[in-house]
Amino acid sequence: MDPKVINFIEQNKDRFVEELKSFLRIPSVSTDPQHKRDVRKCAEYAASELKRIGMQHVQVCETAGHPIVYAAWLGTPGRPTALLYGHYDVQPIDPIELWHSPPFEPEIRNGEIYARGAADDKGQVFMHFKSLEAHLRNTGKLPVNFKILIEGEEECGSPNLDQFIREHREMLQADVVVISDTPMFARGVPSICYGLRGLVYFQIDLVGTSSDLHSGSFGGTVANPAFVLCRLLGNMKNEEGRVTIPGFYDDVRPLTERERREYASLPFDAERYRKELGAPQLWGEMGYSPLEQIWARPTFEINGILGGFTGEGAKTVIPAKTMAKVSMRLVPDQDPDKIARLFEDHVRKVCPPSVELRITRMHGGKAWLAPIDHPAMKAAGRAYEKGFGKKPVFVREGGSIPVVSTFTELLNVPCVLIGIGLPDENAHAPNEKLDLGNFHGGILSTAYLYEELANVA
Ligand code: BES
Ligand code: ZN
Repeated sequence: MDPKVINFIEQNKDRFVEELKSFLRIPSVSTDPQHKRDVRKCAEYAASELKRIGMQHVQVCETAGHPIVYAAWLGTPGRPTALLYGHYDVQPIDPIELWHSPPFEPEIRNGEIYARGAADDKGQVFMHFKSLEAHLRNTGKLPVNFKILIEGEEECGSPNLDQFIREHREMLQADVVVISDTPMFARGVPSICYGLRGLVYFQIDLVGTSSDLHSGSFGGTVANPAFVLCRLLGNMKNEEGRVTIPGFYDDVRPLTERERREYASLPFDAERYRKELGAPQLWGEMGYSPLEQIWARPTFEINGILGGFTGEGAKTVIPAKTMAKVSMRLVPDQDPDKIARLFEDHVRKVCPPSVELRITRMHGGKAWLAPIDHPAMKAAGRAYEKGFGKKPVFVREGGSIPVVSTFTELLNVPCVLIGIGLPDENAHAPNEKLDLGNFHGGILSTAYLYEELANVA
C-alpha cells in the first residue's frame, strides 16, 4: 500500500476519534418514534461526511421508514466493485441508570470509547469512512470501485431494506459485499465471520378475562393467562435443552466432524465464559459445546414477559392478560417461514381454549454460511493480517444480519464480514464500547482490504 496512506492513518488517529465522537453524539435510536428527527440527522451527517472525504453520488434515499444513505466512487472502470453495508441506527439506551457515562456523550476510558452505537455499528461504519478517506486524500483514488449502503433500520429488523435492494439492483450491483458489524472472537484475535444465525420473532398475547380479577373472589374458576403462558413457554424446551416444536430440527444442517474438530481447536474456555457471564452454570442443548450451541444449533428464547402485578408489596389479583416476546435463532437450512408456521401451529394446538390467543409475527431472516476458501475471504484474511500483524481466525456468530442472505440471493455476491467489535462490547446493553486499538487496526485493515479486493473480487 502507498506509504502515504499508512502514514495518514497513523498521523490522524486522534482526529478520527474526535470525528467518531460527533457521529456517536447523534441519538439515532430507530425503534423510538421520538428520535425520528435524530435518525434523519444522523443519515445527513453520514452523507455529509462521505461527501467531505471525496465520495460521489452521495444521496439520502427515502424509504417508508428511516432513510438509507448511498454513495459511490466509480473511478476505476474495469476493476471490481465492492459494496459496503452497515447501519447508522442504534439500539435504545434503557436501562439508562446502569450507564456509567451518558450514552450519547462519548467518553474514553482505558483506551475504549463508551457510547451507544460505538461498536454496533457506528464505530465500525466510521472505520470504513476513515480508510476510504485515507486512500482518497492521499492517492486521489480507491483501489476498487466502491458503493456504500448504510441503513437506519437494522435494529428494528430492516423492514424496508429488501424492497430497496430489489428496486435498486442495478445501482447496488457489486462483485463483493463488505460488512463490519460483528465482534472478534476474543480480544487480540482478529476474526472473519463466515456464518450467522437466522431469526424468527413473535409476540404472543393471551387474554383471559375482560378485566383483572380479585383472586379470592374468582381464583379457581377461570384460567389465569400468566399461568397458561408460563406452561406454554416452559414446555418449549425439554430438560435436554431441545426445542419441542414438532419438526423444528427437521432441516437443521448437522455439524460435520471437521467443523466440530475446528471449533474445539479454538481458544475457548467454557469455565471462563461462564464466569464472564456471571452464570451459576452453563445450560444448553445437551451433547453440544457452547461454541457449537451458539454457531450451529438453533434455539428458542423468551425475550420478555409481561403480566400481572410486579410492583412492591403483594396484590391478590388474576391478570386479565399477559404477553411475551419470543424468538428463535435459526441455522442453515432452516427456513424462517416454515419455522414460523410450525411455531404458530404448535402454539395454537397446545394453547388451551380457556384463554384467547393472539400471535403476531415480527421480523426475521435466514441464516448464512459461506465457504471460507472463497478468494474474497482469503483477501480479507491477508488484509487483516497486515492491519493487525496477526493471522485472523475464521468464526461463525450466533447473531443475525438478515440482509446478508438477501445480498447473497438477490445480488448473487459473496459477503465478507470483517468486524472489530469484542465479545465484551456490550452491544444492545448499557455501557456499549469500542476498543480504540481495534478501531485503528480496523482502519488499517480495511484500507488494505480494498487493495486486496482489487485483485480477487
Ligand atoms: N451487529 C448485530 C449482529 C450480530 C450480533 C452479529 C452479534 C454477530 C454477533 C446486529 O446489529 C443485530 O443486532 N442484529 C439483530 C438482528 C435483528 C434485529 C433482525 C440480532 O441479531 O438480534
Ligand atoms: Zn445490533
